[in-house]
Parts: sequence; C-alpha cells; structure tokens
Amino acid sequence: MTDTQPLWKPEYSVGVDTIDQQHQRLFGLLQDLTLTDPVKSHAVLVQEVEDYINFHFAHEQHLMSKYRYPRLQAHLDQHQDFHRQFQLLQAGAKTDAKQLARIRLMVYAWFTRHILGDTMDRDLGAWLQARGLPAA
Ligand SMILES: [Fe+2]
Ligand SMILES: [Fe+2]
Repeated sequence: MTDTQPLWKPEYSVGVDTIDQQHQRLFGLLQDLTLTDPVKSHAVLVQEVEDYINFHFAHEQHLMSKYRYPRLQAHLDQHQDFHRQFQLLQAGAKTDAKQLARIRLMVYAWFTRHILGDTMDRDLGAWLQARGLPAA
C-alpha cells in the first residue's frame, strides 16, 4: 500500500449500496491521512475517521436489527474489538506523521479483513441482498 494507491477495490463490494458507499468514503478518509492539510490538524483528521467509523458501525447495526440478522452479536463483537484496538493505538501517542501512518495501516488492515478475510460484512451483505436491499 503506497500513499497514492487508491485503497478501494471492487472486490471489497458486499453488494449493498449504503455499506459499499460508506466503506469507500472511509477508505477515502484514510487516504486523506497522508495529505498535509493546511487547515485541519492531525488530531482532527483522526477524529473524522473515528466519527465516520462510528456512523458506519451504527448503520450496520441498524440494518442487522431491522432485518433480524442471526449473527448480529458476533458482528457487533468484532466492531467492539475494532474500538479496543483503535483506542490502544491512540493511547499516549502524539498524532505525528508516523502515528498517522500506523493508524491508517491498522484501520485499513482491520477493515479489509472484516469485509473479506473474516467475511463478516460480505456475509451481512448477502443476507441483506436476499431480503431485497439494493445492490451496488
Ligand atoms: Fe461490519
Ligand atoms: Fe462495514
């Protein structure tokens, strides 16, 4: 993964519009972490990533509840695990360029594993698609 490489790839699609669009937006925010923003501080950029992840997790939780997803708890446990790892990474460290790179790498690795490797989001996407949610 280089700084200029697009992070989103079509193979990350889970087949549900809103989830795919949010993953794309999140990966776009991760890419912004590599930019030198004249207005926003590093802390603000990291906060934007965290806020967006919270929004995204809440959206998935809403869909899982609404459509009675049978693996809801296992999925929520993974989201909770993300928060633990994210907090640990931020604890006691300044958000300098190196720290931003570490955060970017951790979030990217976690999400690609959650979407594809553990098939958590992909399985959720298949369940929702089978219940008529629009495909991307
Ligand atoms: Fe998820
Ligand atoms: Fe997700």
